Amino acid sequence: MSVYISRALPDTVYKRLTAEKIKFTSFRHSDRAPSRRELLRSIRGCTGVITLLTDRVDDEFLNAAGPQLQVVSNYAVGYDNIDVAACAKRGVRVGNTPCEEVNESVSEMAMTMIMALARRIIEADDFTKRGRYKIWDPGLLIGTSLYGKTLGIVGLGRIGAGLAKRAADGFGLRIVYTDIQRNEEFEKRFNATYLTKEELLSASDFVSLHVPLLPSTKHYISTKELALMKSSSFLINTARGPVVDELALNKALLRKQISGAAIDVYECEPATDCNPYDTYSLKKLKNIIMTPHIASATMEARDAMARLAAENLIGGLRGTTMPAEVMKK
Ligand code: DGY
Repeated sequence: MSVYISRALPDTVYKRLTAEKIKFTSFRHSDRAPSRRELLRSIRGCTGVITLLTDRVDDEFLNAAGPQLQVVSNYAVGYDNIDVAACAKRGVRVGNTPCEEVNESVSEMAMTMIMALARRIIEADDFTKRGRYKIWDPGLLIGTSLYGKTLGIVGLGRIGAGLAKRAADGFGLRIVYTDIQRNEEFEKRFNATYLTKEELLSASDFVSLHVPLLPSTKHYISTKELALMKSSSFLINTARGPVVDELALNKALLRKQISGAAIDVYECEPATDCNPYDTYSLKKLKNIIMTPHIASATMEARDAMARLAAENLIGGLRGTTMPAEVMKK
């Protein structure tokens, strides 16, 4: 059995594989990902691979690996980088890393972004560090209070529900949500209201996205949707970049059609083979907070993801249970 790990991961992974006497090679550069050529060359003859969201797993990848490949263990909850059907056709099992630690970390990040937008934390930090704080001014950097405002949650999975808990219990936000199905227990617990997508967009002061990237959620937020949002409202995206049409978001922010946005994910993430066309313009805007895909970047989440990725890999190689196996829909 030989395994390729496409990036430096927490030691937990290496220790676990060593304990199981599984041979592995790992691309350990922290400042770059393997190029497509390096990746395809390195996986040749492997029985297992630990991939990241920057690695596209498709027919080309599977052909390059060869017919002995048994398992692709993705070090991420999202697996939109993997052609699950192509893997299933060849009997290659796929794992991902959904866990409480990731849910907590991502919902904390969404809440952090809401707070930073509402209280203009990034602008205030910049203002102070540039030496512009000369005198206390009652009109300076006025934000918006969260209490009594409406938070629209798009996608009521564990992360969306975790955000609702923080926002409602901690800050007194009113919760509205939309999803493919209603959750009455959730509605009762949080006094939440189920709305259609359009109703949610026009009712919310903050809209936070928590849907996976699927053909049906690509550009879920585009020109039409942004036009429905209040001019005082904010958009938060910690899900996947292509869920938001960046060009449309850029225009809406420029025209102040919405008040601001905070995004952690991009239509083209660096080191993926996709062409960024508008992230660069977003960077020039003042009414947007941009972070480098760090919503799950806590020690707790990364470590739990490492444990799951290792166990998924081992299960796939041994032909036993994988704790988080992705099934073809
Ligand atoms: C995930 O797990 O899908 C995150 O986006 C990356 O950690």
